[in-house]
Amino acid sequence: MAKISVIGAGNVGATTVQRLAELELGEIVMTDIVEGLPQGKALDLMQAGAINDYDTQVTGTNDYADIADSDLVIITAGIARKPGMSREDLIKTNSKIIGEVSRNIAEYSPNSIVINVTNPLDIITYVAMKATGFEPKKVFGMSGVLDTGRFASFIAEELKCSKKDVEAMVIGGHGDLMVPLPQYTTISGVPLPELLPDETIARLVERTVNGGAEIVGLLKQGSAFYAPSAAIVRMAEAVLKDSKRILPASAYLEGQYGQEGIYFGVPVKLGANGIEEILELELDESQSEILRKSSETIRRGISQLDI
Ligand code: NAI
Ligand code: 2OP
Repeated sequence: MAKISVIGAGNVGATTVQRLAELELGEIVMTDIVEGLPQGKALDLMQAGAINDYDTQVTGTNDYADIADSDLVIITAGIARKPGMSREDLIKTNSKIIGEVSRNIAEYSPNSIVINVTNPLDIITYVAMKATGFEPKKVFGMSGVLDTGRFASFIAEELKCSKKDVEAMVIGGHGDLMVPLPQYTTISGVPLPELLPDETIARLVERTVNGGAEIVGLLKQGSAFYAPSAAIVRMAEAVLKDSKRILPASAYLEGQYGQEGIYFGVPVKLGANGIEEILELELDESQSEILRKSSETIRRGISQLDI
């Protein structure tokens, strides 16, 4: 049976554990720096199994030794931006946390696949790869599946059709410069531009780019976690079942899309070995320009790192 460890028992971490447990995808260990938090949530989730009919073992702990020999580790630990904090503060604080988390992953689960979720996503995923010392294909980030889900949801709402029939694609950095790709988005095989006028598509693209901020604005504190955890589990399932799904993920680029040495959202083939292939799509000029700007933002973030 697979062993999955989730680092961080906050909103995203605990909801991810709930979804993984309900699907019986493996034994789960949930860790956090706060004493009692992962233990309490694990106990609650174990008891839910008796009602929801799952037998998944969920263990809460503050001790990294308990993540030993995990097949998959999901990082959701860290802090969100608070009033008075700059983006640079967030990079510095979360890179320090994830540096430490990653060194523990390397020590206790040296053969694991790592999915990072902590923001700023593309920069922190780079930190996780460097600090674990793992091959880049074994460390990648979740954001594109979430952003794609948001785009697909808005499209289905606009067309008044089932979300199940929408296959969308969003690439780029997880931020204001992500790039939803209408030309690679289909509804039961029909390209999106044949079903909606350009102005409507532009409105949905804009809403997708601001999708995270829209939820933060409504919640007032904290950020989204239901769709993020669903997105994490889709990626986790692809790894654990070796299903070779084609999904967007923040992957380490070595020349693809004209980029070298950074993590960036691109379509990949995901399986038991992690990122097994990166797919290169042809983009129009304005999309290529946004990608270029997005990569500059990520490079600036990496240059602030103390690693
Ligand atoms: P949260 O605040 O609910 O949970 C974070 C947890 O991390 C807390 O329980 C905290 O105690 C724990 N933590 C802090 N330092 C730690 C350490 N050194 N070791 C272990 N645990 C530690 O936050 P939430 O909503 O769960 O979000 C977590 C992260 O995921 C944030 O960085 C957020 O921005 C990011 N996020 C990324 C998404 C994406 O698409 N990539 C989507 C949603 C959230
Ligand atoms: C989101 O997009 C906060 O990155 C997170 O909801």
